[in-house]
Amino acid sequence: MKILLTGAGGQIGTDMLPILVSRGDEVLAFDLAPRPDTCPPEVEWLRGDITYAAEVNTAVERFQPDRIFHLAAILSAVGESVPHRAWRVNMDGTRNVLEAARIFGVDQVFYTSTIAAFGPGLDQPVGDHVPLRPTTMYGLTKVAGELLGEYYEHTWGIDFRGVRFPGLINAGIPGGGTSDYALFMYVDGMRDGRYESFCTPEAKIPFMYMPDAIRATLELSDAPKEKLGQSIYNIAAMSPSADEIADAVRARIPGVELTFAPDPLRQAILDSWPDALDDSNARRDWGWSHEFDLEAMSDDLMPKIRALIGDPGVPA
Ligand code: SER
Repeated sequence: MKILLTGAGGQIGTDMLPILVSRGDEVLAFDLAPRPDTCPPEVEWLRGDITYAAEVNTAVERFQPDRIFHLAAILSAVGESVPHRAWRVNMDGTRNVLEAARIFGVDQVFYTSTIAAFGPGLDQPVGDHVPLRPTTMYGLTKVAGELLGEYYEHTWGIDFRGVRFPGLINAGIPGGGTSDYALFMYVDGMRDGRYESFCTPEAKIPFMYMPDAIRATLELSDAPKEKLGQSIYNIAAMSPSADEIADAVRARIPGVELTFAPDPLRQAILDSWPDALDDSNARRDWGWSHEFDLEAMSDDLMPKIRALIGDPGVPA
């Protein structure tokens, strides 16, 4: 299968590329950034700007993908510091992708939405079909992207589907999200022996380990359309508090110093997001099931982070 991956150099794309290659997919990676060393040699890397329709159209016309996995986005924390750029990348970028899919007859556009699509005051766990009243630029553009995709589906017949990801954790470089404190506890905890989280110890949002997130993407993308009762699905795995994550890191890195100094802006974003998601529709319609909880993820992560940073750097 031919897959065009936008935002291929980001946190998700970096881990997804080798998995697509191992499945035998032919992949065109589209990103503003230059080709990273981690990109498998089988992948063609095309530097391009998602906000310019001509660049997206050229990529889609030439490559003729069967599916586009649209990952390119400005995330929540960065989005609040450059809201106009977040609007351009998230709104114009998504419209450009959908337009290119319409013009050049791409079968499926897979959209990566987020817990940031939700706003405060919802009953927990939060289901798929609730009022979407996000308070961040990132969240509101993601909601609009969900709706725009559904518009292209019913107006132009594009197969549009996607997931609302929890905060994602991997042995990688995060992309400017508000959920990044969790990843930094593991990576900075191992590399520097300490990390100060920008949230309270009680902060609690849904999280997912990257291998589960990538598997969810591929499973939903491959699911028979007739099984899907909706286009966008919540998916869930775990909802640890920041302190519970810290305890999981402390149990694996002796002597690590994990402290908390809440930043008002990012804490307010976390407070506006769900504590937990109800993903029963994904489990029913396409058999979604997570594999990793906090303990399993933490065990799996440690050797990968060690490989990422080269040297454990763990204090005695
Ligand atoms: N990880 C994202 C963020 O923090 C949420 O989708 O912005």
